[in-house]
Amino acid sequence: MIESTLWHPVAACDELSTRNPLPVRLLEQPLVLWRDAHGAVHAFDDRCPHRGARLSLGRVHEGRLECPYHGWRFEAGGRCVQVPALPDFTPPPGHKVGAYAVAERAGLLWVCLSGDAPAPEFETEADERLRKITVGPYDVATSAPRVVENFLDMSHFGFVHEGWLGDREHVAQADYRVETTAAGVLATGCRAWQPRSNRLSTEGSDVEYTYAVTAPYTAVLTKLPQKQDGYRDVISLFVCPVEPERSRVWFRMAVTDFASSDEELRAFQHTIFTQDQPVVESQVPRRLPLSGGELHSAADRLSAAYRRYLREQGITFGVC
Ligand code: FES
Ligand code: CO
Repeated sequence: MIESTLWHPVAACDELSTRNPLPVRLLEQPLVLWRDAHGAVHAFDDRCPHRGARLSLGRVHEGRLECPYHGWRFEAGGRCVQVPALPDFTPPPGHKVGAYAVAERAGLLWVCLSGDAPAPEFETEADERLRKITVGPYDVATSAPRVVENFLDMSHFGFVHEGWLGDREHVAQADYRVETTAAGVLATGCRAWQPRSNRLSTEGSDVEYTYAVTAPYTAVLTKLPQKQDGYRDVISLFVCPVEPERSRVWFRMAVTDFASSDEELRAFQHTIFTQDQPVVESQVPRRLPLSGGELHSAADRLSAAYRRYLREQGITFGVC
């Protein structure tokens, strides 16, 4: 079992109804999510402690998760409270399934496998001038840090996203600042000439933006306003380390565009990420080399800072 005291996103909130439990996988561990009648979400090991059946094949019944095999019922917290074959039996406290902390944040369900760290907060979510929309999930055949590092990488725009976020004639990397913050890593003063930086752009423009790494597998891109109206567009990347070399990826867009449809906004981000995906999946090794093994240039200062940050977080071989 892979230990982790971090909060990880495992599913979108709207994937989970009050009717059917949902199987997810986090750090090789099969989990089942279920929502009780009050809307509260619970995360258990997806294995019944009676005879090992998958609880996610069961159902939610009267505020409890019912195993599909012999109908044992588990309440919030994981305790078995009913064994249908023995109506008069009161299961002892040891009859229980592993239960984990769950939180709903930024349109996603987050799980923490161990420890008592508070769930992450995202200030953008409270900004009513920004419209929020979730894009994904994408199942990507590589480690979570490779996905994050690609999101932080500016010097691929003219190649991977030619005609969209970059252009072969404008690939020189303008200088930018990188600093370490209490939360993680911050890059400011990033600038790029982008032929089509968002869904509504009709001509190329210089875009200025910042990147913030706020957790090992969370990064936030803020595009600074081009017109001085004080608004900004924010794209957050949330990556679930499903396995050391398999990731599930969501983007949370917070944009000033209230006119386009959800589908139109998703289509733009979808195009960009499906350009990235085959290249990212081709990178070997899939686990991010945290020291040595790859060549760096001065344009890679942000990714170098990200690797340093992962090392400081005690993340080895690019996953925890
Ligand atoms: Fe779950 Fe028997 S295996 S109740
Ligand atoms: Co890209």
